[in-house]
Amino acid sequence: MQGLISVLTLSVLVSWTIGGVTAANYSVVDHGAKGDGKTDDTQAFTDAWNAVCSDAAAPTFLVPSGMTFLLGQVLFQGPCKSNVHVEISGNILRPSGLWSGGVVSWIVFNNVNGLSIASTGVIDGQGSAYWTCRNNYQCNDAPSALTVLNANGSRLSGLKLINSPSKHLIVGRSVGVTIDRINVTAPGDSPNTDGVFIQQSQHVSLSNSIIGTGDDCVAIGNGTLDVTVTGITCGPGHGISIGSLGSENSEAQVEQIHVSNSRIFNATNGLRIKTWQGGSGYAKNISFEAINLAAVDNPILIDQYYCPRGDCALNQSSSLQVSNVHYSDISGTTTGKIAINLNCSQSVICTDISLQNINIQSADAGGTVVANCTNVQGTAVGIVKPTVPCLN
Ligand SMILES: *[C@@H]1O[C@H](CO)[C@@H](O)[C@H](O)[C@H]1NC(C)=O
Ligand SMILES: *[C@@H]1O[C@H](CO)[C@@H](O)[C@H](O)[C@H]1NC(C)=O
Ligand SMILES: *[C@@H]1O[C@H](CO)[C@@H](O)[C@H](O)[C@H]1NC(C)=O
Ligand SMILES: *[C@@H]1O[C@H](CO)[C@@H](O)[C@H](O)[C@H]1NC(C)=O
Ligand SMILES: *[C@@H]1O[C@H](CO)[C@@H](O)[C@H](O)[C@H]1NC(C)=O
Ligand SMILES: *[C@@H]1O[C@H](CO)[C@@H](O)[C@H](O)[C@H]1NC(C)=O
Ligand SMILES: *[C@@H]1O[C@H](CO)[C@@H](O)[C@H](O)[C@H]1NC(C)=O
Ligand SMILES: *[C@@H]1O[C@H](CO)[C@@H](O)[C@H](O)[C@H]1NC(C)=O
Ligand SMILES: *[C@@H]1O[C@H](CO)[C@@H](O)[C@H](O)[C@H]1NC(C)=O
Repeated sequence: MQGLISVLTLSVLVSWTIGGVTAANYSVVDHGAKGDGKTDDTQAFTDAWNAVCSDAAAPTFLVPSGMTFLLGQVLFQGPCKSNVHVEISGNILRPSGLWSGGVVSWIVFNNVNGLSIASTGVIDGQGSAYWTCRNNYQCNDAPSALTVLNANGSRLSGLKLINSPSKHLIVGRSVGVTIDRINVTAPGDSPNTDGVFIQQSQHVSLSNSIIGTGDDCVAIGNGTLDVTVTGITCGPGHGISIGSLGSENSEAQVEQIHVSNSRIFNATNGLRIKTWQGGSGYAKNISFEAINLAAVDNPILIDQYYCPRGDCALNQSSSLQVSNVHYSDISGTTTGKIAINLNCSQSVICTDISLQNINIQSADAGGTVVANCTNVQGTAVGIVKPTVPCLN
């Protein structure tokens, strides 16, 4: 009898909690947003956020469909009383001009554990004025479109980001992040418009996404551990990159990065690890598996002499250690000459580098390609074309 009562009590409690009768929607329109694409709706977004964030019953922040919201720089700050769900069904537009001062981000979520964002709308950074300004060396900073920081256990799904002034999506200082089905688009010549940039985070998964921009499709920065990248269609752009790491003699740690089942086309680089001379720390336990390449200039590249402005001292006594990097089942075409370029530091050589079942050919009929390696210890297994002279 007592058992039955406690079972009944439990089931009432469960249905009350899971039924979520009190879970409310907070539409930005109910907080005054016009959604006409002309009126500045920033205050309404902030007001709706403040309401949603202080609701303890797992509320939804709603950007309704069929409308376009003009949104200025905004910080969605937590912690919130419960996990917030953000549903972006309408479109969000940044005002097209330049912002005064060194603004580095547009939309930021900070300190929001358990955040989930599901989107079917378009987040348009209208970045062209910044691209021109950057290309003319008149702007040092340009805002990133969407930044998610300190958001353990968060999920970002379906986001469509276009034309950011700078990076499109930044994830940082978070543990356990799932990013799925995102679509990032910006012109191939737009400067610094990386697709997804992940740093200072652990246990991150990025999957089933389409990214084409003027910079890295995916960039993995310092302080990352256990990042899985799979099912990415990348191009145009600068490929999938680890780094750059170790600039200005800094220390960096990157570990357990696994990239698989992806396609990279019309890109300056394919699978790249880039570190600066003079840095310290490591990039280790990295794998690239089942990658298809089409018209990629530098398909497989370890560049430990990264120096985009060409003003660095080479052959410094300190460098990050790159080790335990595995490339397997990688095939396709290159528009460059050096299909595989493992250019490691003289002071700290790359160790345990392996290549297995690689077949990269020239995109030009009859063209030949080579592999180069410097300061590398490792192995080649199965068919590796072009042949890498320094590997066993
Ligand atoms: C919240 O909005 C969604 C549609 O976006 C709707 O399905 C749901 O019923 C709404 N919930 C409440 C409590 O109004
Ligand atoms: C996220 O989790 C990490 C590791 O458990 C913890 O150190 C950090 O404080 C958490 N972040 C937040 C915003 O709670
Ligand atoms: C991704 O976005 C681009 C540009 O807006 C669009 O052309 C393409 O159809 C989108 N892809 C998917 C799968 O939604
Ligand atoms: C490659 O990308 C560039 C932009 O970076 C674009 O102009 C060009 O049309 C693309 N080429 C192909 C073959 O897709
Ligand atoms: C890189 O990340 C590590 C670990 O998170 C941190 O200790 C270090 O300060 C970072 N380096 C830089 C230059 O930010
Ligand atoms: C490499 O990473 C995998 C998965 O992320 C992990 O299971 C394995 O233990 C790591 N290996 C080493 C040598 O750290
Ligand atoms: C390796 O890097 C050095 C320094 O940037 C450069 O001079 C050299 O040409 C590179 N080697 C290859 C094969 O790219
Ligand atoms: C580093 O020094 C070695 C020998 O001292 C030289 O062969 C090599 O070309 C140098 N590399 C770079 C990138 O300057
Ligand atoms: C790259 O490798 C090719 C073929 O082995 C060789 O002829 C060439 O000198 C190498 N280039 C560099 C910069 O090491």
